[in-house]
Amino acid sequence: MRIECLAAPQLNELWSLREDTLVDPDDGPDGPVTVQTRWGPVHFENPDPVLRTALERMTLGPVSLSNVLPGFPGLEDLDRPEAHSPEVAALLRGLRRIRHCLVRTLALGGTPLLSVVPLARDTWFVPQPVPGDRPCRLSRFAVLRWAEGGLRMESPLAHHRVQLHRPEMVQLLGLLSGGDRPVGLQLDQEVTEAAIGYLLASRIVVAAEHPAVGADAPRYAEDDDPTLAGWSADDMMVHARSRLGRSDGPFGATFAHLGRMPAEPAVKPLGARTAVPLPRPDLGELRTSDEPFSSVLERRRSLRRYGPAPLSIRQIGELLFRACRIREGADRDGRPYPSMGSVYALELYLVAGPDTELPPGVYHYDPLGHLLEPLDAPAAETAELREAAQATLSADGPPPLLLVITARFRRATQAFSGIAYTSLMKDVGVLMQNLYLVSTAMGLAPCALASGNSDTAARAFGLDWAVESSVGEFVVGTSPPAADLG
Ligand SMILES: Cc1cc2nc3c(=O)[nH]c(=O)nc-3n(C[C@H](O)[C@H](O)[C@H](O)COP(=O)(O)O)c2cc1C
Repeated sequence: MRIECLAAPQLNELWSLREDTLVDPDDGPDGPVTVQTRWGPVHFENPDPVLRTALERMTLGPVSLSNVLPGFPGLEDLDRPEAHSPEVAALLRGLRRIRHCLVRTLALGGTPLLSVVPLARDTWFVPQPVPGDRPCRLSRFAVLRWAEGGLRMESPLAHHRVQLHRPEMVQLLGLLSGGDRPVGLQLDQEVTEAAIGYLLASRIVVAAEHPAVGADAPRYAEDDDPTLAGWSADDMMVHARSRLGRSDGPFGATFAHLGRMPAEPAVKPLGARTAVPLPRPDLGELRTSDEPFSSVLERRRSLRRYGPAPLSIRQIGELLFRACRIREGADRDGRPYPSMGSVYALELYLVAGPDTELPPGVYHYDPLGHLLEPLDAPAAETAELREAAQATLSADGPPPLLLVITARFRRATQAFSGIAYTSLMKDVGVLMQNLYLVSTAMGLAPCALASGNSDTAARAFGLDWAVESSVGEFVVGTSPPAADLG
């Protein structure tokens, strides 16, 4: 690709509105105006004509506000009201009320270089001066990706995201590795500084804390800050985008993909192998004989040692029936554990060792029929899952029964936007708690595991991991004698 030289003199700033913003002149051209934003309406009872014109022009696309109000500052500091004329100050006051939907575009003449889009309610974009004496680099939290027709940079630390309109901007990012000022760019110094100023303010780029001294590597606050040091960029992005406050995508129970992807059935269909019915406990009997709830809660512990007796098929049947079957009768869809939006995306796979009465191997649990479906899992993968569980527990031997929880992602992604993945994590948590409490009530030895290998599980269970993947692990066995608990 040929990169044209962009060094025209007219570096300026254009203003427009987020695409989801609507300007509604309530009562014709002289009446009040309501700006409908993603975060609710903003009402101007008696907007002055300049603000009215600015709003109209910005709905049509990026506009230089100096064309609306001669003397409106270009790239100078907007944050010093005393520096502006009363007309400019009045327009700025109006704009500040809709700051959460103002897109700011750095442009050379009519050519947009990059735009900064607000993601949150209380955000006013202030391009930052570039510190001349300190190196700058990309933030370790910044991510570049393609979305909605263009390249975008975003950081979970920012209340803005950046749309890159020109290849020179990507080239500039590539040169911001923390060393010397970018050289070899097809941009002149003024344009480079202005673009870095926008990127600094959007948290895409960070400046070193001190001027470079000799051969010492520059230090960046985000690497040393005790608040940020423990955060991985991936964890923080999942957090930021699965919560309201700094995310602007579709959010919640949107059913955005309904009809666009094959519907995932509420219950996973059984495969070709004959499924074996599991014993069912007598719930009526349990209601009177069970240990009181508070006593179970207080006694619950994670146990990592097991008794000499094998885990019986009766115990496995009772645990799964009480913790996670689909209830029969009027409450047909109900299960003993809750699920966000009644999505119930989770499946259970059993990896049974020789310390259970089940023939060692891998089984899929059918919660509707309360059946176990034997699977032809490769021996190497089965052994790997058991050994990994042993290591995660720091146990003396492989666990008697490993329960691998998978998620059929489409159940969640067809219902939710923004919260699909985290809804599954929450569902895993409540299912684990059920497994803990029922195991405790039954006098078994339960323990959740922190993680597992999704690729190994996919091979063991014959799954396409992007469709259904392991998201949780839980181990259970018979209880050791009281003296050997731990
Ligand atoms: C989601 C989750 C994951 C866990 N992962 C592990 C693990 O990988 N290895 C382990 O030995 N214990 C694991 N545990 C058990 C915790 O270490 C245990 O709950 C904690 O030490 C408190 O002890 P208690 O459960 O006996 O009250 C996990 C617990 C939870 C809830």
